[in-house]
Amino acid sequence: MSLINTVTVETAGSSYPIRIGNGLRRELLVQLEELEAKGSKLVTLIDEGAQTAIPSVFEDSLSRFPSLIIPSGEKSKSLERYGRVLDFLASANLDRGGVVLAIGGGVVGDLGGFAAATYMRGIRFIQIPTTIVSMVDSSIGGKTGINIAAGKNLVGSFHQPIAVYIDIDFLHTLPEREFISGLAEIIKHGMLADRKLFDLLAETPIENSRDDRLGDIIKWNCEIKAAVVKADEKELAGSGGRALLNLGHTFGHAIENVAGYGEYLHGEAIGIGLVAASHLSQRLGFIESADVGLAISAIEGLRLPTHLRNPLRIDDLYQAMTRDKKVKAGVIRFVVMKSIGQAATIESADAELVREIWRTVGAID
Ligand code: GLY
Repeated sequence: MSLINTVTVETAGSSYPIRIGNGLRRELLVQLEELEAKGSKLVTLIDEGAQTAIPSVFEDSLSRFPSLIIPSGEKSKSLERYGRVLDFLASANLDRGGVVLAIGGGVVGDLGGFAAATYMRGIRFIQIPTTIVSMVDSSIGGKTGINIAAGKNLVGSFHQPIAVYIDIDFLHTLPEREFISGLAEIIKHGMLADRKLFDLLAETPIENSRDDRLGDIIKWNCEIKAAVVKADEKELAGSGGRALLNLGHTFGHAIENVAGYGEYLHGEAIGIGLVAASHLSQRLGFIESADVGLAISAIEGLRLPTHLRNPLRIDDLYQAMTRDKKVKAGVIRFVVMKSIGQAATIESADAELVREIWRTVGAID
């Protein structure tokens, strides 16, 4: 791919660029200087894990801004940490013209975005994703939020960033497990919206961050996500729409919740969730057993888990599913594949069938 590409996200109230490429430091600096010249105060929220990567990618250019380090992991998407971020914004004297730079994975993006959405009833923020999950999914489309004991992302807000900077060089600094975990959202996009993307990943899996197709594949995924967000920004479509991005997530979120946040990386839980969603799609008569086999082997090919590492109890998983915010009047909303590359939402599924699906990925009665 050429050095830097742009995908534009268009929503009812905003339009912003996702810049994708290697070495975006200079361009980001220009934007930050422009913001400062207009009197904006800037602060950074930096994932502890991404912190070490910053000198190599952005050198010391961000160090002049007040900075708060966010411990890595889903546990940071808590009410307590959210409170600390708000206190930090206040102590840095941010006013309504302030801008938050969220640098890290989905945790920092969701937490920082939610703080930006609510501090002084909303200030601007820029997403600088450093993981694959955040580059192709969570940094795009304005979903921000935190977890509470009852479930993941149950508190949040739609708040679009003013820009997203995806510097591919960050990926070289990711631990292998984190890199692999991110591939789940990429194969998910193929399974729900684009058979060609699925086939590409199934035939020649991405092995590491040095894969020179990565920039193009990330851009491709950003285009898929941006199109879905444009069509249904607030996930209000009666069927299909933005909810399709949750393929594998009703199962995956339940795994994260029951195993304890942090036990599985998000993408690892989604890998298993995608297998469960494939079985459900087959059992409901939408796809063939051979398609389930293809999906499982593509997910395995990316070295993602397809089965629970330790058995979890079906009752607990089912309970967690019913607490998902997609549940309406007790009916669980699932995303299924009508074929690989084409997803649909269904309003309910037989509870006994869902229990059987859980057994296929290693859950126990
Ligand atoms: N990650 C799902 C969405 O952005 O809607």
